Amino acid sequence: MYGQTLNLYGVVGRKAASVAGFEYSEDLRKSGIVWNEVTIDKFITAPKKLFPGTRMELPGVEDEKTRRGIIRFLGSLSQKSRKYSFAECQIMKLHKRVGMTR
Ligand code: HEM
Repeated sequence: MYGQTLNLYGVVGRKAASVAGFEYSEDLRKSGIVWNEVTIDKFITAPKKLFPGTRMELPGVEDEKTRRGIIRFLGSLSQKSRKYSFAECQIMKLHKRVGMTR
């Protein structure tokens, strides 16, 4: 379980258990849910309550404000934001300074 890392970029709006190569639990694979503000909130409040067979070892985030912050953070991890490395961002900044759009 610790040998695998799960990519959460773009998770908001994505079907559950859809990262290729990651070994999800049967519960998550068969859930048929799409991750959004509501479903993620339910999941991280009490993962094992929603999916008794989940492999996610998180006791649950009780505080609503904290959950909201986490969900906002996950929402900011779009595939687009992932595309650019630090170096690429610096280049884009330089381009902008000289009037280029990229
Ligand atoms: C607040 C902290 C966390 C958040 C917001 C979070 C979020 C998520 C989300 C959204 C998924 C579903 C991904 C998908 O369907 O592709 C997921 C799955 C998973 N997470 Fe977390 N996670 C957290 C903490 C943890 C921790 C502490 C662990 C392990 C130590 C962990 C291990 C896993 C595993 C193994 C899965 C797959 C679950 C399954 O197949 O049943 N997560 N997590």
